[in-house]
Amino acid sequence: MLPKRISTSRTMIRVTTPDDLKQIHNWLSYPVPFTEYNMKNPLGKEKDGKYWWEQIETQDRVHYSVLLLETKEVIGIHAFISIDWNKHIINNMGIRFRPDLCDKGFCTETLSTLLKSILASGIKSIKLDVSAINPRAVNCYKKCGMSIISDAWYKHYGDPIDLKNPIWAVHLQHLKQEKDFWLRRHYIMEITKKSISSHQNKN
Ligand SMILES: CC(C)(COP(=O)(O)OP(=O)(O)OC[C@H]1O[C@@H](n2cnc3c(N)ncnc32)[C@H](O)[C@@H]1OP(=O)(O)O)[C@@H](O)C(=O)NCCC(=O)NCCS
Repeated sequence: MLPKRISTSRTMIRVTTPDDLKQIHNWLSYPVPFTEYNMKNPLGKEKDGKYWWEQIETQDRVHYSVLLLETKEVIGIHAFISIDWNKHIINNMGIRFRPDLCDKGFCTETLSTLLKSILASGIKSIKLDVSAINPRAVNCYKKCGMSIISDAWYKHYGDPIDLKNPIWAVHLQHLKQEKDFWLRRHYIMEITKKSISSHQNKN
């Protein structure tokens, strides 16, 4: 049984409700090069016409909302998706923080607490897939105890790439130009019951 509600110093984390989704609908856009992560990106719609983050009734998912303790506003989501309940493995995650509240330590604070609690509840391994050209996300997940276990190349569906712009040029080693599209490196990251204890001993 996964945890239902956890507190951190600035937030409350609890299972997402339909009312939370209404707030998330009003989040603004992320800046370039992160617009692909916009909550209303049409590519994020599933067969039923709803966005991936609205699929809160699905059997193989548990979505958590992060609320500010002071105002009770929803400022983030940690969606655990593709859960194999028999093998006790979570195969992927979707994480978003409200665009105006990124880079303020909220993901590190909440994800580290949540991962610890979920692994203590009997889940053996939690994996996620993250673009290598999103070092903020990679860095945050590493701080939460996750490690890179493999990589893979996927078609880039994000903002147009222009190597003259330093935004993209710094990521050259993670980008490959094909005929009329770009491939980009993704990392698969994982945390397990075993790895979390060695991470905790180091910190
Ligand atoms: C990625 C995301 C979930 C991280 O949450 P967050 O609350 O902003 O992250 P935190 O502030 O806890 O931690 C980010 C860390 O990355 C660091 N960082 C920021 N920009 C960076 C960059 N360009 N390169 C390397 N590290 C960077 C920050 O300094 C911070 O580390 P520090 O605390 O040691 O200084 C959030 O920014 C977000 O929702 N981004 C848009 C959507 C997205 O990218 N989702 C993830 C898809 S996998």
